[in-house]
Amino acid sequence: MIAIGMAYYPEHWDRALWEEDARRMAKMGVHLVRMAEFAWSRMEPEDGRFDFGWLDDAIDVVARHGMRVILGTPTNSAPVWLYHDHPETRQCGRDGRPVDVGIRGHRCIVSPTFRRYAERIVEEMARRYAGRPEIAAWQIDNELENSHCTCPACRAAFRGWLREKYGTLDALNRAWGSAVWSGEISDWEQIEPLLAPDCMPDWHNPAFMLDFERFGASRTTDYVLFQRDIIRRYDPQAVVTTNCCFCQHLPDFHSEFAGLSVAAYDNYPPTVLPDDPQALYSNAFALDFIRGFKRQNFWILEQLGGPGGCWSPFGPTTEPGMLAGYAMQAVAHGADLLGFFRWRSCCTGAEMMGHGILDHDDRENRRFREIEALLRRLERMPELDKSALRSPVAILYGADQEFALKNQRQSAKYAYWTQLRLFDEACTGLGVNVDVIEEREPLDGYRVVVVPAHHIIEPTLPERLEAFARAGGTVVLTNRSGVKDKTGNCVFGEPLPTAFRALCGCIVEEYDPIGERRQHVTAGDGARYAVTGWCDLLATEGARVWARYDERFYAGTAAITKNDFGAGHAYYLGAVGEKALYRALMAEILGEQGVPFLSGLPQGVEVTTREGGGKRWRFFFNNTAGGVRFLLGEETVALRPFEMAVQTEKGEWL
Ligand code: GAL
Repeated sequence: MIAIGMAYYPEHWDRALWEEDARRMAKMGVHLVRMAEFAWSRMEPEDGRFDFGWLDDAIDVVARHGMRVILGTPTNSAPVWLYHDHPETRQCGRDGRPVDVGIRGHRCIVSPTFRRYAERIVEEMARRYAGRPEIAAWQIDNELENSHCTCPACRAAFRGWLREKYGTLDALNRAWGSAVWSGEISDWEQIEPLLAPDCMPDWHNPAFMLDFERFGASRTTDYVLFQRDIIRRYDPQAVVTTNCCFCQHLPDFHSEFAGLSVAAYDNYPPTVLPDDPQALYSNAFALDFIRGFKRQNFWILEQLGGPGGCWSPFGPTTEPGMLAGYAMQAVAHGADLLGFFRWRSCCTGAEMMGHGILDHDDRENRRFREIEALLRRLERMPELDKSALRSPVAILYGADQEFALKNQRQSAKYAYWTQLRLFDEACTGLGVNVDVIEEREPLDGYRVVVVPAHHIIEPTLPERLEAFARAGGTVVLTNRSGVKDKTGNCVFGEPLPTAFRALCGCIVEEYDPIGERRQHVTAGDGARYAVTGWCDLLATEGARVWARYDERFYAGTAAITKNDFGAGHAYYLGAVGEKALYRALMAEILGEQGVPFLSGLPQGVEVTTREGGGKRWRFFFNNTAGGVRFLLGEETVALRPFEMAVQTEKGEWL
């Protein structure tokens, strides 16, 4: 059974409401109530004085109604007294100055003083609640980012991390190529964190920035493990996770979740769909990405429950069917728990217009009825949580690629994520499951491995991809691959794609970062596609030409190639294309690999499959604001906007 959760903040409501709220949640079909994140000032109103009486009572109320609790550690928002008494617990910004306190998330997760206080509050909670039957799981902090803090503690920690990594300043200067612009460091104390003058952030040394991001990621992972260990001290079996999101400074998610029980995500798909048919708005990619963190099904700790309004102007209301459809989309991509955000819109505080399921008037509105109906529907699919997605296609992701390509933009319209998403969208649009996995993961079991913009060469990858292709698999590589070594510096004396040259059977003669301008390519079958962002001008070394450029001085030059390699193939995609290009390419590749796929699905219809225990559920999601119709064999399928149809292995529609 898919577990249903609900975010509830007892401290936001009069106690007189708790009992009735719990009764209504249980009646609606909620199993898990998520609480206590952000409630530090209620648990520790002043330094060292703890008050858990209210939380005990809230947990009791929930348990009396047959539900369990996901308990959040409150460390995202430290109490005001802590910042006041210990200003060193505040993060510092890129200007090196402490950030203003007044919203949330201001704590420095590296600061030893903050760690001391965080340890104490988490330990108090763990001592009191860990191992109790009412507690189903723990959530650490909230939406952790890669730490970019520049406080004195972070500066010292960064220097220590570099010392450990490089040993000597000589090695560090060599790795960073610090001879450029007299950047050589002659004392560890001279090293500063990323203090970018805002006017020219692009002027920093990319190798230095890569290390700064890796350091930040290591702090975030360390912080997660620090809290996990406190909880596990009191309950070694505790289920511990943290809720992640796509934030400004992405952490290294794979390392962050490696030591946790399950991956968890806050899922807020767009409530207004863009008009541009090329826009990549679907959350399908994000869900495939989260599933890849542990190569397992995952949880949604915050699922869109109403229109946003935490930041004004407020978002428009959700269309009928949208909330249920998006929740089912998460299930279709591997969510085993749907935790809605939040039970009711708060009447106070910054998020008073961030809408929960219920409005301030507390009546059972359209959103409530839609989600209630969804929960009844899910009850008719009781074995769904025993199933998983099996994927013939893997897309490789690396935190290093994200760091490097974000910190040194390749051209005006170039983004690492775009290429990952284009391939993901092509697969779900062909009804084929796709995993997004970390680039060091084994490739066994896949038929196709897509490696978009593998900019920083992961040293083991060229050989592993060659072995994969030799054994009959298909590899797809793209522009900006093989550009830099692990230090973040350009590879010398080798044409691109350097380490992947033999596999691809082509080289990049020249490239043209065309930015927002457009070019076109024509494929061997005569189909013509727009491309943008980047154009590699390819010279073949054994590969065949799959598509050529149409315009400018390189009209006729190879843009996409296909190489036979052992029993398999390697495609190289020199440009960033429109959606139709990826669908055509993937259809050809899947056909060659004998992987069945659906052709003719309308744009925006996403099909995935979960299987387990001899059962199969096939999900057909209309992720558009208009009705669609298509043929499935002999049958015509019609879907309303945001409708999810589910078909069993027997062909029944649920
Ligand atoms: C999430 C956050 C929640 C709440 C929500 C509002 O990102 O974790 O605490 O702020 O957004 O939509």
